[in-house]
Amino acid sequence: MRVAIVGATGAVGHELMQVLERSTLRFDELLLYASPRSAGTRLTFRGQELTVQVTPEGPIDADVILASAGGSVSKALAHQWIKGGGVVIDNSSAFRYDQDVPLVVPEVNGEAALKHQGIIANPNCTTAIAVVAVAPIHRKYGVRRMIVSTYQATSGAGQKGMDELVEQTRHVLDGQEATHEVFAHPIPFNVIPHIDSFQDNGYTKEEMKVVWETHKILGDDSVRVSCTAVRIPTLRTHSEAITLELERPATPEQIRELLAASAGVEVRDDPSGKLYPMPLTASGKYDVEVGRIRESLVFDGGIDLFVAGDQLLKGAALNAVQIAEYLQEHGALKERQRI
Ligand code: A2P
Repeated sequence: MRVAIVGATGAVGHELMQVLERSTLRFDELLLYASPRSAGTRLTFRGQELTVQVTPEGPIDADVILASAGGSVSKALAHQWIKGGGVVIDNSSAFRYDQDVPLVVPEVNGEAALKHQGIIANPNCTTAIAVVAVAPIHRKYGVRRMIVSTYQATSGAGQKGMDELVEQTRHVLDGQEATHEVFAHPIPFNVIPHIDSFQDNGYTKEEMKVVWETHKILGDDSVRVSCTAVRIPTLRTHSEAITLELERPATPEQIRELLAASAGVEVRDDPSGKLYPMPLTASGKYDVEVGRIRESLVFDGGIDLFVAGDQLLKGAALNAVQIAEYLQEHGALKERQRI
């Protein structure tokens, strides 16, 4: 059994290697790919030095291909890679809305992964983090409307996003003016309500991804979803304020109990002890932190909550590896002829 990482030198690639080190996924060999710029780079995995190779334009000789080199690379090459008989778990948005491509968060709709035809999509990070908390509530109480406001870290834009925050913050502290390349405006000491491109309806694509992907993962288009996505000057972990209108009223205590028993969630909710979700505590953690659970003042029997999830992990690398683990646990990694 072989696993390949495409985009191994990137921010998510780095996390994929860390998550694989701790994973229960059984495999014998790891192949690392990136752009020609990084060919020959040596990276350490389980105490062994591995050499990064140029991403193939043809079949990849691996059972599981974890792709995180951006949408255009996946779009151009994923169908070639799977000719080696493996399955691509793709972190980009290239295939998420294709009907024959499952969009999977294992805690929520793992069984959808079993119906793949060579490609499985990993959701947008903001959506993945939100649905871990919202899906159990939807299952038990029926979510009618969901209003999301996000506080998204710079690592959502990859390593170069984090670098821009650190370098430009230094500039500002040195009394210089901040510049910007990755983000639409200087990010230090600022918040930017603009992630991805604006659509005809006035929402950004990042915001619409939350709408489209929540529907696809929950398997329910009837939930009314709206999102305002905002970039903030943190390095990692996306936070989200979520308001839910429910079909069947729930008390905060019922929601706390439900979420405490839900996979992938850590309830962190004791305001008197200053305990609530924050990037500071959620970064590096596999579980999504959920807290500030309280009765909605707008929707009778509705709920307000706050979540923080490491988007490089649950929003990207961890979720991708969990999909591979799910496939293996369900005997769905088929025998493959080595090429
Ligand atoms: P490289 O480091 O050689 O540029 P991030 O999201 O952190 O920016 O990382 C993107 C990842 O995708 C990196 O590993 C990067 O490799 C890789 N990548 C970018 N463009 C290509 C490409 N055209 N072919 C293969 N890998 C690519």
